[in-house]
Amino acid sequence: MTAPEKETRATPTGVLRHYWHVVDGKVWHLALPIFLILIAAAFELVSFSLLLPLTDAVIDNSFDFLETSRWFGWITALVPAGLDESARPAYLVICIVALIILGRIGKQGVQYAARRFVMVRNERYRVKVSQDTFGRVLTFGRQYFDRQAIGRIDAEIGWSSSVLGLLVAVQELFRFVVSLLAKAGVMMAISIPLSVAFLVTLPLVQGLVAAINRAVKRISEEGVEVDRQIRTQILDILGAIPLVKAYSQERAATEMYETVLQQGESVAVRRDKAIAIRYPIEEIMILVAMLLVQGVFILVSGDFQPAELAIFAAFLLPLQQALRDYKMISQFSLRVSEELPRLEAVAGLFSDEGKFIVPSGEKTFRGIAHEIEVSHLDFSYAQASEVLHDLSATIPAGKVTAVVGSSGAGKTTFVDLLARFYDCAPGTIFLDGTDIREYSLPSLHSGMSIVSQDVWLLNQSLRDNLTFGLGRKVPDEELARALSDVQLDDLLDESSGGLDTEVGDRGVRLSGGQRQRIALARALLRDPDIVILDEATSALDSLIEQNVADAIKRRLAGHTLIVIAHRLSTIRDADLILVFESGRIVERGTWSELIERRGAFHSLCRAQSEKDAAVGA
Ligand SMILES: Nc1ncnc2c1ncn2[C@@H]1O[C@H](COP(=O)(O)OP(=O)(O)OP(=O)(O)O)[C@@H](O)[C@H]1O
Ligand SMILES: [Mg+2]
Repeated sequence: MTAPEKETRATPTGVLRHYWHVVDGKVWHLALPIFLILIAAAFELVSFSLLLPLTDAVIDNSFDFLETSRWFGWITALVPAGLDESARPAYLVICIVALIILGRIGKQGVQYAARRFVMVRNERYRVKVSQDTFGRVLTFGRQYFDRQAIGRIDAEIGWSSSVLGLLVAVQELFRFVVSLLAKAGVMMAISIPLSVAFLVTLPLVQGLVAAINRAVKRISEEGVEVDRQIRTQILDILGAIPLVKAYSQERAATEMYETVLQQGESVAVRRDKAIAIRYPIEEIMILVAMLLVQGVFILVSGDFQPAELAIFAAFLLPLQQALRDYKMISQFSLRVSEELPRLEAVAGLFSDEGKFIVPSGEKTFRGIAHEIEVSHLDFSYAQASEVLHDLSATIPAGKVTAVVGSSGAGKTTFVDLLARFYDCAPGTIFLDGTDIREYSLPSLHSGMSIVSQDVWLLNQSLRDNLTFGLGRKVPDEELARALSDVQLDDLLDESSGGLDTEVGDRGVRLSGGQRQRIALARALLRDPDIVILDEATSALDSLIEQNVADAIKRRLAGHTLIVIAHRLSTIRDADLILVFESGRIVERGTWSELIERRGAFHSLCRAQSEKDAAVGA
């Protein structure tokens, strides 16, 4: 992704400039349609400037205007030399009508070419802009996603393509400005005072309309917030269907949705009212001003001639068309007022503030030979009190290190920092003496697998989920082996779809234990140097857990393994146990050392064995 300077990208114009870069925009992309629009306008001008004299000529039965016309004199040369004089007018009428029709066809043809060009190009732009925005959002740190409703992010990504709406509007704007100028030319030819009256009125009307535009912008800003809430509401409820069902809250959820929809309705109605009032105001103001000028014109000219009324009547046709063009131009400012708040929201995505981006270093991580060193590590989530306090520990390479402690003690936070999901302060975590912040994130994540406490599966096939992020083609036999290691051979049964089985949203079509084991198999397939298992087997029954643990031990012999476990029996053989309590490491050692010490770990074990004994009793 190419990126101009950050500060310019945080404003709507900065974002437009950035997107222009992204779509690899060229000046001719804008110039070509504009050029075509000019040609279309020229065609239109030809039709128009023939139409009025033709009407006069037919009424007067005289085609003298052709003889004196600077532009259309050549038409008389089309009349065949031997043609009867009485047939000449009819012949000329046919020629002029044919030219008028050709002019219209030419205009429509060129306009079609321009529109087609713009539309096709815009679809291409839309893809690139959406892709770029989505890619940008994915660079944000986990904390950003922890703090933002997914519906809000979804809405903002969607708005990125409204930028293109503006681009189309700019081109349309140009088209109507050119068309308006052409009409103004024709109007000038009919009556200069009336034309001046019309043209002078426009800025006055525009001034009044600007106030309405500001109101529309304010309402649209509210609309942007309501749209975010609507998306948030939908995605929140759809993402928690089992909960809604379990508590029979379908009705309440629908009502909640209705509330935000009603807010949306109120905003839309207010906006529509503001927009609707514009058109009558515009039209009435222009007509009143014109009638006034016409009155003044008649008074000043001294005598009232029906001819002046005829001029006024002739003026009405181009005037009507000019008004239509003007309305389209004025709609542009309205469109900008409506789209600007969205563009501002998109601009927000392009500022780095509050995005918690975890910086990626330059070095390539290739594994560790000695140890992971944690030194005086403090950590707090944004705007929350400190979770980890002054942690120091040495995790030996090639060994099994267990992390235990009560719920909320900070175990997951600790391993998430090792996995660089959150940024730590410089000089607090070292891999073989190199600050972890110096490594590039992709290299770190290909050398380190984490099976997190919450299992993440995509709504794709079993195969896709197993090979996610692997970056190589994996033979089915290898996938089968990985599944077999985690005791999931039965999923391979072809009758149930085998590796092509779709697992559903977040893997809903699988059991909790199956989901967990797929996450494990996915981590093992990467053959990483460091493996972190955060409660990775908590959903398994003891027998399967034991078998899976044996398979993990076999596969990961010699790798660095960090295991978080509540079920303490599973970490009996660990080379090192770190005991967490309220964000501090309070004890460390092997199982027997810690039992002997009769401290915090001993208490944890005793509490668990008492619970187990109670269950057994
Ligand atoms: N994304 C987050 N944003 C803010 N606070 C968080 C976040 N995740 C965890 N916390 C807080 O940090 C503290 C430590 O949580 P953590 O998940 O590290 O505990 P844990 O030891 O893994 O607990 P458990 O055994 O229940 O998984 C908790 O008080 C929790 O409320
Ligand atoms: Mg945890």
